[in-house]
Amino acid sequence: MTNTLTLQDKVAFIQGGSRGIGAAVAKRLAREGAAVALTYSQSPDAAQAVVQSIEAAGGRALAIKADSADADAIRGAIRQAAEAFGRLDILVNNAGVLAIAPIEEFALEDLDRTLAINVRSVVIASQEAALHMGNGGRIIQIGSTNADRMPFAGGAVYAMSKSALVGLTKGLARDLGPRGITVNNVQPGPVDTDMNPANSDFAESLKQLMAVGRYGQVEEIASFVAYLSGPEAGYITGANLLIDGGFSA
Ligand SMILES: NC(=O)c1ccc[n+]([C@@H]2O[C@H](COP(=O)([O-])OP(=O)(O)OC[C@H]3O[C@@H](n4cnc5c(N)ncnc54)[C@H](OP(=O)(O)O)[C@@H]3O)[C@@H](O)[C@H]2O)c1
Repeated sequence: MTNTLTLQDKVAFIQGGSRGIGAAVAKRLAREGAAVALTYSQSPDAAQAVVQSIEAAGGRALAIKADSADADAIRGAIRQAAEAFGRLDILVNNAGVLAIAPIEEFALEDLDRTLAINVRSVVIASQEAALHMGNGGRIIQIGSTNADRMPFAGGAVYAMSKSALVGLTKGLARDLGPRGITVNNVQPGPVDTDMNPANSDFAESLKQLMAVGRYGQVEEIASFVAYLSGPEAGYITGANLLIDGGFSA
């Protein structure tokens, strides 16, 4: 029988794949045939559960503890994944943190941590991944619609961190396009996860701002990432792509 899986024989590395959007991306890419390595920093059990779910469905997966604030840990994890699975085709930079506070009170350590995880880790992982990828490689950031629209107070630093990915993605696309590697930035709107649960007062206020009036589900983001990871998306690069239920409309 002909194999029709779009990511058959591909290897994906997901920075921050234990929970939320990253876990859904890991499972979806595995369902499309990719072997998947995923990192975590705090949640070994959740990461292992993602691996088990992929393996139970007949896929290949590996969880690696690597704090995205630690450059050596990121590089080491990517090397470990490429060695374990023999190649690297897809990098998804999903790890992210959200610190909300009025600017007058915003802690310096939260500023540094946000920039380290949401921005610096994306540069470092892309750098290391580019050493292992060949023609057809894919780098996908999980940015945010907040790069375009920040309708509540206290999110200035988070919005700045996600805006940084807009320029980074364009520049990386220029660097890596000649090698057949695409680089794109997926910008979700509110998605129901631990970071942003859909059943809070805050969530109710955000739903009022959206064309569809509801939160997104992690699987909706994962299917978009799977499309961008696949062979049909080779002409999309340097793009900042909203998937936000009309949050920015
Ligand atoms: N949910 C939303 O509404 C929304 C909207 C737009 C964009 N986003 C972005 O989407 C991405 C995922 O968000 P989410 O809602 O799925 O968040 P989440 O539920 O809090 O999950 C975050 C994931 O990132 C990992 N992570 C966090 N800090 C890390 C670190 N220092 N090192 C390694 N991994 C780390 C976590 O691993 P551990 O379990 O080990 O901590 C976890 O797997 C983030 O970049 C976020 O900014 C989310």
